[in-house]
Amino acid sequence: MAAVAAAADLSLIAYGDQVAGCERCALAKTRTQVVFGSGSPTADLMFVGEAPGFHEDKQGVPFVGAAGQLLSKLLAGIGMSRDDVYIGNTLKCRPPGNRDPQPEEIQACESHLFRQIELIQPKLVATLGNFATKLLSGRPNGITQVHGRPQQVTLGGNEVTLYPIFHPAAALYTPRMLAVLEEDFRRIPELLGRSLEIPQPEPEPIQAPLAQPVQLGLF
Ligand code: URA
Repeated sequence: MAAVAAAADLSLIAYGDQVAGCERCALAKTRTQVVFGSGSPTADLMFVGEAPGFHEDKQGVPFVGAAGQLLSKLLAGIGMSRDDVYIGNTLKCRPPGNRDPQPEEIQACESHLFRQIELIQPKLVATLGNFATKLLSGRPNGITQVHGRPQQVTLGGNEVTLYPIFHPAAALYTPRMLAVLEEDFRRIPELLGRSLEIPQPEPEPIQAPLAQPVQLGLF
């Protein structure tokens, strides 16, 4: 298993090196760097977001800003961490001013995502928001309509379960949306064929009983 993981890691690193110089669309002129993806190269669960933002473009890692922090918290809520999953995006380069991805950019970038999925071979691909959902489902239905509804699709030559959920950025300031996202996250372990491991709060440190003052009886 370790050998399989090492080989998968090498193939993914090699592909990432190749994509680092991509000039397939105009975003190559404005980006700081390509944000390829991060996490386990053999993850059963892969998240696909929209596109890097300001912080991701600077650091070269997806979901490191406020939406990324919420994603990490949602994962922790189901007993998982970023190291257990793979995180990528529909676009690998930041659109200027964080504007929406354009159809020609999505088209230029899509084979990078399909190749990533082919190399990682996840069982479950959770699409975050409209852009990833529409691209990977091949359907025009928006996220409000399809969130929380798993569907079987063939991606990167493999049968995978596609699980559309809201983008964490949409839940940052809207408690109602956060509740929906949390609810949809709670189904992830079951979709992976695992039981939900709700993290237990750290036990309170045990306080040693205060030492009784020693009566020396000297006076
Ligand atoms: N939003 C995304 O969709 N992707 C990121 O990497 C960061 C924020």
